[in-house]
Amino acid sequence: MPESDPILEELGLMPVWQKRALSTISAAEPAALEASSSANVKAQKKEFEVIPDAALSASETPISSLDWDTLKARVADCKRCRLCEKRNRTVFGVGDEKASWMLVGEAPGANEDRLGEPFVGQAGKLLDNMLHAVGRTRENGIYIANVIKCRPPGNRDPQLDEVAQCEPYLKRQLAIIRPQLIIALGRFAAQSLLKTDASISSLRNRVHQYEGVPVIVTYHPAYLLRNLPDKAKAWADLCRAQEIYQAMKH
Ligand code: URA
Repeated sequence: MPESDPILEELGLMPVWQKRALSTISAAEPAALEASSSANVKAQKKEFEVIPDAALSASETPISSLDWDTLKARVADCKRCRLCEKRNRTVFGVGDEKASWMLVGEAPGANEDRLGEPFVGQAGKLLDNMLHAVGRTRENGIYIANVIKCRPPGNRDPQLDEVAQCEPYLKRQLAIIRPQLIIALGRFAAQSLLKTDASISSLRNRVHQYEGVPVIVTYHPAYLLRNLPDKAKAWADLCRAQEIYQAMKH
């Protein structure tokens, strides 16, 4: 990783980087890290390493082998990053565990943190209405999860090390549910899933792949609430998803 990556800085994914095992971070430290001066931040962001599951506890089963219920329990107890300090509830996901479509958002907001369910505010209502229009609901054919399972304080952008710690949970959810189609809701989810820093406008209108599963990228529902004219584009994205799904079945 280069010393300073202007793209990551632009995305707000900088700056806290640490090169040491998570278990060495004290409870008081995350707040201190967030308050670091920019000089400190520059010193910290050189490199980081993803902590392998096995390093956390030799007796723990790796996330990549957990069954659904144990995965859920592991998320509820998770202390892999600083976000655990300020969360009220973890937000594992919601919906049909045999879903053919999996929707992936960014991270819980205040309402989701309070209720432990993704997309429960106005953005969630819009999402539900759009899904209803293609004959789907949270209970029927849809599973919704976020890249990040805990609310970033003040709804700030998740940091790169937080994404790295949380991603194995989403990866395992995807491996267990085995959806036939994935819809990435917004830039952050799309960039995380597809490992790219491309803009949302360049990612829309194309079919991507996540481990062999087609991925459609669309706008985040919260963005649509603020940019009503783009609802038509999001509707077109959902229709494309429906077409692709139908074509796969024949
Ligand atoms: N935004 C998201 O990306 N996910 C949620 O669960 C809520 C808001």
